[in-house]
Amino acid sequence: MNKLNFLSLALALLLQGESNGFAFSSQKRVAERSYAGVALSDGADSVEASRRTFFTQSVSAAILGQLSMGVLPTLPAAAVSGAAKVNARLKGFGLPVMAKVPDGFSPLLEIYGKGKNRFPLLVTFAHPLTWVVTTPSNTLNGEDGTVQAGDYGKGDTATFFVFEGPGHVNDITAQPKSLYEETLQKAIGQRGSNMYQNFKVTKLDPVTQPDGQKYMIVDFKYQLLTGAGFEVDRKGVASITSEGNAVEVLWTAVTAPRYKKMEDTLRDITSTFRCYADGINFSDDLVVYAE
Ligand SMILES: *[C@@H]1O[C@H](CO)[C@@H](O)[C@H](O)[C@H]1NC(C)=O
Repeated sequence: MNKLNFLSLALALLLQGESNGFAFSSQKRVAERSYAGVALSDGADSVEASRRTFFTQSVSAAILGQLSMGVLPTLPAAAVSGAAKVNARLKGFGLPVMAKVPDGFSPLLEIYGKGKNRFPLLVTFAHPLTWVVTTPSNTLNGEDGTVQAGDYGKGDTATFFVFEGPGHVNDITAQPKSLYEETLQKAIGQRGSNMYQNFKVTKLDPVTQPDGQKYMIVDFKYQLLTGAGFEVDRKGVASITSEGNAVEVLWTAVTAPRYKKMEDTLRDITSTFRCYADGINFSDDLVVYAE
């Protein structure tokens, strides 16, 4: 996004707020969501929605303030989508192209960690065409939020999470079950560890990609605790790897009654997930901070 587009987006956000969000073009809508800086997980609820409105308005006001002071932050572009574009970028990084995009899916590619508080990771996966994509937001303070796609009305989600605790793990497929459990519990508990209970890993399936990269496919289930005192049974499939100095996961989940219908979709999403850090030159993608 160039600076002029960004300025008009910021103005549009300030003048119209979140209420007219769906009148924007889809690209602007993605950008708008990403500036909100709030990662939605397990479906949007009204609290999250109003927080998002608040963040959107205050962040756009803050950015306009910066612009009026002559400070031009360098901004992240919306996630790259479309098979040709995603594969062109993968080739540009010297990486294998996405083997096959499942029918009815859209591939995305995003650099997570453009901000100074994170280390960069190339994240790519394919998700159902109709799912709404959220990408990390960057301000002068650094990066917030994550790469996520979902059908929030139904509670369907695919969410990227970086677990720095274990550092780099050499063979992710040869680890004790506790590492996969801990990684997923950290990922699911992003909104607080009291948000879920009865977490259980039900199946492990190691995968080695043609280029030698390893992923552990993990089936799991848990109960989401809603603010209103309900428990919602959820089931999911995750793909866990380790690139750079962390363990990374793309976890997907739906409500238990939807799992039968959605299982193949969740497996397709996780099977297309790739994450790369090592040996990649990210210098053109990182946020450049004004002095
Ligand atoms: C990384 O890319 C930038 C810009 O494309 C280039 O200036 C720099 O030399 C590259 N670094 C390495 C280590 O190749």
